[in-house]
Amino acid sequence: MKTIFSGIQPSGTITLGNYIGAIMQFTELQHEYNCYFCVVDQHAITVQQDRLQLRKNIKSLAALYLASGIDPDHSTIFIQSEVPAHAQAGWMLQCVTYMGELERMTQFKDKSEGKETVSSGLFTYPALMVGDILLYKTDVVPVGDDQKQHIELTRDIAERFNKKYNDIFTIPEIRISKNGARIMSLQDPLKKMSKSDENQKATITILDDPKQIEKKIKSAVTDSEGIVRYDKDNKPGVSNLLNIYSILGKISIEELEAKYEGKGYGEFKSDLAEVVVNAIKPIQDRYYELIDSKELDDILDQGADKANTVAYKMVKKMENAMGLGRKRK
Ligand code: TYM
Repeated sequence: MKTIFSGIQPSGTITLGNYIGAIMQFTELQHEYNCYFCVVDQHAITVQQDRLQLRKNIKSLAALYLASGIDPDHSTIFIQSEVPAHAQAGWMLQCVTYMGELERMTQFKDKSEGKETVSSGLFTYPALMVGDILLYKTDVVPVGDDQKQHIELTRDIAERFNKKYNDIFTIPEIRISKNGARIMSLQDPLKKMSKSDENQKATITILDDPKQIEKKIKSAVTDSEGIVRYDKDNKPGVSNLLNIYSILGKISIEELEAKYEGKGYGEFKSDLAEVVVNAIKPIQDRYYELIDSKELDDILDQGADKANTVAYKMVKKMENAMGLGRKRK
């Protein structure tokens, strides 16, 4: 059975973008693969976090993985900082990654732009992500398309390590969902929807209540044409809403265009709000059952045990390949 690894940062409540771009792929693929789904908390501290809020977000994200339908009997769900091999691998891989490669990462450029100070962790973070993936002999990494460059880097580093030191890493493939690769901001449909967006109207989080969802969708930026039609270049706002509707409502864009022919954006938006609420309500219900439960802690303990066993072996192989420490008999 092939292996999947993917992770989400607990840097805020996950958005509809994370859900559609990443989690929907996880639940779809979980029974065909040996899966590891990680709460990548060490990535989150590349920018300043409030410690109590971070703690909350970590468990919240783990509960949301489960509430979205990831089955812990099949998949390993764990917290990155509870598996020290990630930081160990991250360091070794930083030493195999070139400055020029990191400088080319568009996500670093975006996140550091206009900031007075930027942590060096934010710059070297892709090497930690490379380690996350390579530790588990990952074959497939399901992500949204904003992670494409990081996965390409992972492949390059894995090939370089295999050639320079020893052939120990599997070269992973990226998997991006067809329509959900990039869900856009509701307020600026040329920007991706992001959990760290300061404008709360721009994102729908998976824990928003029905009223908030309705309000945010009603105030989503569209255009003055008044026709529900998919045209990404000229109607990015409406096209993004159509995309969300199509994926969550399981109805094609063509059918939606026909359904709303001659109708304005008002009806379209209020139906979309209902579709979104119906899609996430069961997740929320399960989430509130899980969040303070012993079940969640037990699952995370088991996940950390399993991930530690697998990842430790790879770290030892890496150290051995690079000549670190003493050779054990
Ligand atoms: P993060 O936390 O920014 O996003 C988590 C996942 O959600 C996807 N995503 C989106 N998909 C569609 N539309 C959007 N608007 C949208 N916003 C986010 C992301 O592509 C991602 O799949 N570096 C990663 C986390 C990470 C990771 C890994 C991922 C760390 N190690 C190893 C895969 C494998 C990140 O910051 O994702």
